[in-house]
Amino acid sequence: MRHVLAIDQGTTSTRAILFDEDARSVRVAQREFAQHYPQAGWVEHDAEDIWRDCLAVAREVLDGVPPSQVAAIGIANQRETVVIWDRASGAPIHRAIVWQDRRTAETCAALKADGAEAMVTERTGLLLDPYFSATKAAWMLDHVPGARERAERGELAFGTIDSFLLWRLTGGKVHATDVTNAGRTLLYDIRRQCWDEDLCRLLRVPSAILPQVRDNSGLFGTTDPALFGASLPIAGMAGDQQAALFGQACFASGMAKSTYGTGCFMLMNTGGEAPRSANRLLTTPAYRLDGQMTYALEGSIFVAGAAVKWLRDGLGVIAHASETHGLATQVDDSHGVVMVPAFAGLGAPYWDPDAKGAIFGLTLGATAAHLARAALESVAFQTMDLVEAMVRDSGALAAALRIDGGMAANDWLCQFLADMLGVAVEKPTNLETTALGAAFHAGLATGVWSGLDDLSRTWESAARFTPAMPSERRAGLAALWRDAVRRTLSQG
Ligand code: G3P
Repeated sequence: MRHVLAIDQGTTSTRAILFDEDARSVRVAQREFAQHYPQAGWVEHDAEDIWRDCLAVAREVLDGVPPSQVAAIGIANQRETVVIWDRASGAPIHRAIVWQDRRTAETCAALKADGAEAMVTERTGLLLDPYFSATKAAWMLDHVPGARERAERGELAFGTIDSFLLWRLTGGKVHATDVTNAGRTLLYDIRRQCWDEDLCRLLRVPSAILPQVRDNSGLFGTTDPALFGASLPIAGMAGDQQAALFGQACFASGMAKSTYGTGCFMLMNTGGEAPRSANRLLTTPAYRLDGQMTYALEGSIFVAGAAVKWLRDGLGVIAHASETHGLATQVDDSHGVVMVPAFAGLGAPYWDPDAKGAIFGLTLGATAAHLARAALESVAFQTMDLVEAMVRDSGALAAALRIDGGMAANDWLCQFLADMLGVAVEKPTNLETTALGAAFHAGLATGVWSGLDDLSRTWESAARFTPAMPSERRAGLAALWRDAVRRTLSQG
């Protein structure tokens, strides 16, 4: 039996999952790591923590498995988060600046005011928002003494987390990334499929620090034999959301998935064409296989599971995330409480980095149960905004929206989602679609699976939720949400 090891390096935890040839997960290890919030709106990770956990979880699941049974390693990663390291020592020059970090909001606003956004969007499919990597990289080069000069001299390397892990896993031999991660930097032309010198100049990131960009599936390098007792091929890499689209077997145009992790990211496969969104969605590489690019439209929401984490860690009204399910179903409705979880600004389709979270409709009758319910409902309301934008851009979604991620375990939320979206929602038996997508890429490159049809056959439905809410109730809830968002936006 051959296995594929997937490393899923997410925003709050690092996981390793060993999959067998039937795409079943046979072993899992996970570690949560520290989040650093040095100032309001700033979010950092220590890249050394990430590396330490990555090695630990990989070693844990590989323990006792003969290297000959491990066909390949695949990596899926939190996207946009920036690491810059010294090529000679491998040491990061600063803590990683995380995708949620808003410190470059003013830089983005100034570039927008100069009229730069149209060109940036045309080439990258993205918007001028601090979410993406380039302005974070420039910030680091400007704030770490001597970094800019060292970068110009080619002494430093830039990478999203995939590149950094690949560099470390190969013992500093390979500096590469894949199209899905490159496509989130604001520096990559997604149609010409190359780094763009004009964007590098505009965003002040020297091209000397950029990694080589490769297909998602293929031999990226082999692990340093000192790490796992043998050299293992690293044969797949993808940003976690694109990996989840792949793991959900959304291979046909119109098929879409939505993943509920820290944030929520809905991606719809659009085939070989890179559409131009008229509704402030992103256009992004979905995967590139044998040089053939497939694109996706994406709606990115910054806070989904993070709202529940805030109830637990920030407010202390729950001790464990899973309690929200029981609390939300204790009450018939949210008692008019609406939460707009703009804790990290608002993403698609509003793109307001200055918006701050807000809770409306509080009365003395409001309880922890109503708050929990409002937090879960906000996840569905935000998804509704994305589906509406996607349908306006593309005409229609395929029959059902495939969902995954931790919150998809909550059946009440799944039903509420179907009700608010007005489309069927389906979840697979294997909710680990992000890791599975990375494994699929690595397994395709090493002959564990023969092609996309082979992968599609492994997808199994665990449950399907169809819309059941009366339309007046749905319209009423949607109106309350829209009013709350309007009051939350920073420009009024
Ligand atoms: O774009 C950010 C995204 O990749 C983070 O994903 O799963 O860590 O919330 P996750």
